[in-house]
Amino acid sequence: MAASIDKYLNGQSAVMADLKHMVEMVSPTTSTVLVLGETGTGKEMVSRAIHHSSGRTGDLISINCAAIPSELLESELFGHEKGAFTGAEKPRQGRFEMANGGTLFLDEIGDMPISLQSKLLRALEERTIQRVGGGKDIQVDFRLVCATHQNLKSKVDEGSFRADLYYRINVFPLQLPSLAERKVDLPVLIKAIMENMKAMGDAVDFQFDEDAVAEMMRYSWPGNVRELRNVLERAHVLFAGKTIGATEVRENLLRMKAPKKNQEADFLWQATADLGDPNMANGDGLDKPALPHPSDYRDWFAYFDDMDLRRHLQDIEITLIEAALDKHEGMVSRAAEALKLRRTTLIEKMRKYVIEKPANSPES
Ligand SMILES: Nc1ncnc2c1ncn2[C@@H]1O[C@H](COP(=O)(O)OP(=O)(O)OP(=O)(O)O)[C@@H](O)[C@H]1O
Ligand SMILES: [Mg+2]
Repeated sequence: MAASIDKYLNGQSAVMADLKHMVEMVSPTTSTVLVLGETGTGKEMVSRAIHHSSGRTGDLISINCAAIPSELLESELFGHEKGAFTGAEKPRQGRFEMANGGTLFLDEIGDMPISLQSKLLRALEERTIQRVGGGKDIQVDFRLVCATHQNLKSKVDEGSFRADLYYRINVFPLQLPSLAERKVDLPVLIKAIMENMKAMGDAVDFQFDEDAVAEMMRYSWPGNVRELRNVLERAHVLFAGKTIGATEVRENLLRMKAPKKNQEADFLWQATADLGDPNMANGDGLDKPALPHPSDYRDWFAYFDDMDLRRHLQDIEITLIEAALDKHEGMVSRAAEALKLRRTTLIEKMRKYVIEKPANSPES
């Protein structure tokens, strides 16, 4: 395998091995590649792997179609001539021309305004472009890689993406696995990202014990490798020089609750070390379990973009009902008491969520 592919795409899982093999095969060709995958799965990394093992001597030129206002996108892509519009004082090359001899990476292609799609299609078909305000055809030799986290086919069906453009770019699709589909790669990814953080000049000297890694394996990683990277950067800030255990992973790294900004790392370490098992009574004298406080969710949107509230509340309900049944060996009336529910209400909920009593539990 070309060394550069391994350098960009870490992971030894079967899905990653397949993906790297595909990247290796397609890179030296001029085929258009469409990189698909959830947010944070590494689409941009794939574009770099492709470019750097393609043998193309030009540059990798990237443009994020979602990040540039649509009225500026055209001149960004195609360039403009002097006087093409107010403010166009000098002629300027667009990204297509800059990518001459190299690779053009159109990120978030699903957000390409429909008004520009026909112009893009023409550039892809004829390999020539015209600058804004210019009448001359300019030949460009580029290799195209596109990426999106959206379902382009349904955009075509709903009419916001041209079908002919879709078929033009969907030549060699590469589907990136979510991190949840390749959790076996976590240790390798953690190592690679920490190495990368070191290379950026940080003295990275925290480590995870076995339980901590096991805890991370249990998590679902909705933000994929980017979320993992954020967690590691957080670990670097909070736990410099420390060995991190499962509790810290759960309480300080994966939980949405941000530690208070002015807490010193050592203080935080002390505080969390004292928390002990979160399932134990929290010592307030009332023998209540240490449930997350509703205000812990206040910072949720500081870290995440959305939440399926109904599903989350259901998940909490299911988890607590199962835990209560477990604790009381499947005795529904005792579990109901523990949850401060009527027995009939609990039975109703168990039916609704298809929750079974634990095996070998006595009747109640
Ligand atoms: N295989 C990998 N090995 C190491 N780091 C990775 C890998 N894949 C992704 N990363 C890291 O994860 C982060 C997200 O990667 P990238 O920007 O390529 O994702 P993306 O799929 O383009 O996400 P988005 O859809 O949000 O733009 C980056 O910091 C990148 O360095
Ligand atoms: Mg990206």
